[in-house]
Amino acid sequence: MTTIIDGKALAKAIREDVKKEVLELTEKTGVSPHLVVILIGDDPASHSYVKAKERACKNAGIRSTKLLREPNISQSQLLDLIGTLNRDDDVHGILVQLPLPKHIDENQVLLTIKKEKDVDGFHPLNIAALHMNEDGILPATPKGILTMLKSTNTPLKGKKAVVVGRSNIVGKPTAALLLKEHATVTIAHSRTEDLSYHTRDADILVAAAGRAKMITGDMIKEGAVVIDVGVNRMDDRLVGDVDFDDLLGKASFLTPVPGGVGPMTIASLLENTLACYKNLKGIARD
Ligand code: GUN
Repeated sequence: MTTIIDGKALAKAIREDVKKEVLELTEKTGVSPHLVVILIGDDPASHSYVKAKERACKNAGIRSTKLLREPNISQSQLLDLIGTLNRDDDVHGILVQLPLPKHIDENQVLLTIKKEKDVDGFHPLNIAALHMNEDGILPATPKGILTMLKSTNTPLKGKKAVVVGRSNIVGKPTAALLLKEHATVTIAHSRTEDLSYHTRDADILVAAAGRAKMITGDMIKEGAVVIDVGVNRMDDRLVGDVDFDDLLGKASFLTPVPGGVGPMTIASLLENTLACYKNLKGIARD
């Protein structure tokens, strides 16, 4: 039997906890958390992700400001804008929606965001903190994935985890988080030979390669926990990297698309925004 992990319900509970704390702290300090999102260009997917983030902020009592910029913005104009936001005491979180236009050096942009306001956890020092088991801001999607895995009460220690995908946003930090949980981790990717050899061995499989329905039932172990990070458009609907119907009955736990990892990413972003606000205001994190 396969249990579907309800990302929507889990995310709702997290959002409600965040909202409660935001309201309490806003009353105490007189200032609510403030997230600024920089959105460059007109990529429809990016616009729709940012819209969802803004809506979630509003519902949680977090102020959000969207700064729209033309795709021909120069590198120095963007870095100057980030510098201004870094210095603004009324801004507690800065998020630059990715991907960026080709002429912009993404690494330089992420490096410029003040690490204390880096709600995405993409600053090299936050990435280093993750790899060195120190406190820092965790990237939202991997953080949401871990919360989902923990919700299943599946032991991670000593288990074989395979992450398919090696992006800086999802694959690599997810692997680091699983390693921190003492899993034995393999990162597979588009150049991996005999992908099934690896995936069939996985107790925990995270599919984050960005290829629709690439993980089929014959590629997983009976009873595996499968997290589907994919968001692919197919015939005008969204499908994951996992062939959902094919895994039903074989996986022990499975996340749906939509309604799985997506809502968890947004809930984690709210948690990160609250954490940055608390750090900047000198309020102890629990
Ligand atoms: N583009 C796709 N996912 C993300 C994310 O988590 N953060 C940012 N900043 N951009 C993204």
